[in-house]
Amino acid sequence: MDFPRLLVSLLISNVFFSVLFFPFAEPIPSADEDRSIINPSCCLGPKPSSAVRKNWTCRSVTPASPPITDSGCAVWSEACSEAVLGLASGPETVELVRNIRRKIHANPELAFEEFETSKLIRDELDRMEISYKYPLATTGIRAWIGTGGPPFVAIRADMDALPIQEAVEWEHKSKVAGKMHACGHDAHVAMLIGAAKILKTREHFLKGTVVLLFQPAEEAGNGAKRMIGDGALENVEAIFAVHVSHMHPTGIIGSRPGALLAGCGFFRAVISGQRGRAGNPHHSVDPILAASAAVISLQGIVSREANPMDSQVVSVTSFNGGDNLDMIPDTVVLGGTFRAFSNTSFYSLLQRIKEVIVEQASVFRCSAMVDFFEKESTIYPPTVNDEKMYEHVRKVAIDLVGPTNFRVVPPMMGAEDFSFYSQVVPAAFFYVGIRNETLGSIHTGHSPYFIIDEDVLPLGAAAHATIAERYLNEHG
Ligand SMILES: *[C@@H]1O[C@H](CO)[C@@H](O)[C@H](O)[C@H]1NC(C)=O
Ligand SMILES: *[C@@H]1O[C@H](CO)[C@@H](O)[C@H](O)[C@H]1NC(C)=O
Ligand SMILES: *[C@@H]1O[C@H](CO)[C@@H](O)[C@H](O)[C@H]1NC(C)=O
Repeated sequence: MDFPRLLVSLLISNVFFSVLFFPFAEPIPSADEDRSIINPSCCLGPKPSSAVRKNWTCRSVTPASPPITDSGCAVWSEACSEAVLGLASGPETVELVRNIRRKIHANPELAFEEFETSKLIRDELDRMEISYKYPLATTGIRAWIGTGGPPFVAIRADMDALPIQEAVEWEHKSKVAGKMHACGHDAHVAMLIGAAKILKTREHFLKGTVVLLFQPAEEAGNGAKRMIGDGALENVEAIFAVHVSHMHPTGIIGSRPGALLAGCGFFRAVISGQRGRAGNPHHSVDPILAASAAVISLQGIVSREANPMDSQVVSVTSFNGGDNLDMIPDTVVLGGTFRAFSNTSFYSLLQRIKEVIVEQASVFRCSAMVDFFEKESTIYPPTVNDEKMYEHVRKVAIDLVGPTNFRVVPPMMGAEDFSFYSQVVPAAFFYVGIRNETLGSIHTGHSPYFIIDEDVLPLGAAAHATIAERYLNEHG
């Protein structure tokens, strides 16, 4: 069934779904018990050893007693997907995800500063009586729904905004000058909360545990890495995440097996010679010539050393040195970026960039230091979809939106810090379209004109929830 048709039929049959799911939609806590307690021993998985990350709040909620009968989705069927989609497109969820997205959109916070965003998420989790651990990676949250036992499957959203001034005039425009959710992370958070609501409603169906990861600092590059360091993936055997895409119409889901997004690194080289009068160049050591030779030679790495079938990029984007037209300067600083789709190609580019700069500098009697900002973690490995996890996403997507609305997408040279998770456990990253010409949601991420079609939010929530529940169903 294709998505628009299914959605229409669900809206028409909304009465049916509200009746069917209302009993689980809002579990009412009995008056004499407060099921939420603060319990430091509730954290799933072994305690981390590092003394650095000690102060976790662990809010534990004892699970509600399971309903008496529900053979419902013992074996996954299209009806189960439709049930999830029904919950997602119910007015309550639609309103919830839209409100959350708008609140976060109006109050964007940059990498590792997502305190209010994180608070808003935790308030929602509290309201839904969902257990979580906080903080991981300063503002991150690891929440969980299900049996508390294996298997564990993770779904992830990023929370940070960008240092961009929003240029879209609308009711929920960013209230913070110079900051904007221009990459859809507000929508990603809303979708994951929508999924949490759906999964909580269907908790009695879960044959294991869904871990919800709300991570900081995707744009800064080390949010995912620090989440992993703080135990985000403990016990987790598979992980999934979504990104909105202006390249596909609303309602389309896309992904591909294998390499999806490039590994991305930056380099900065300082080439040092010896300053001197330009009229007598033999008394100086010229770093301009050495740096120029290095730039030319860098172009030979991809064109002469890389397999043409294995896309790679080396771009020099910065070249600075000297400000006196009569002097040869001491140093030239040049830098740029490099991309590749396999770990091997990526690290071999890194190695060759270093060698080429250092050795070209030495041809002209200069020395060179090359920095790849490894400490700052601006190196992202490639995002590689595990074949089986990709296949899982494809199956789920086809059930939700129909075969004609699932697309195998080409790989892209952009990067995503989801790659850090994909290096640790089998992972799949997928897109959900937000393009709508009428609304004007046609701008690329990181544009000040970036707009999303909010109709995507329930579908994103349904995709997350189905991926997680069905994974447990088929691996539990
Ligand atoms: C732990 O967190 C609590 C509440 O946020 C705070 O009062 C306390 O000072 C923190 N302790 C440490 C060791 O950081
Ligand atoms: C990628 O290569 C680097 C450097 O050789 C290595 O440290 C890392 O473990 C590799 N990752 C994977 C997933 O192979
Ligand atoms: C685009 O948005 C408009 C306004 O919300 C809506 O009427 C239309 O159906 C949407 N088009 C698609 C292809 O989703």
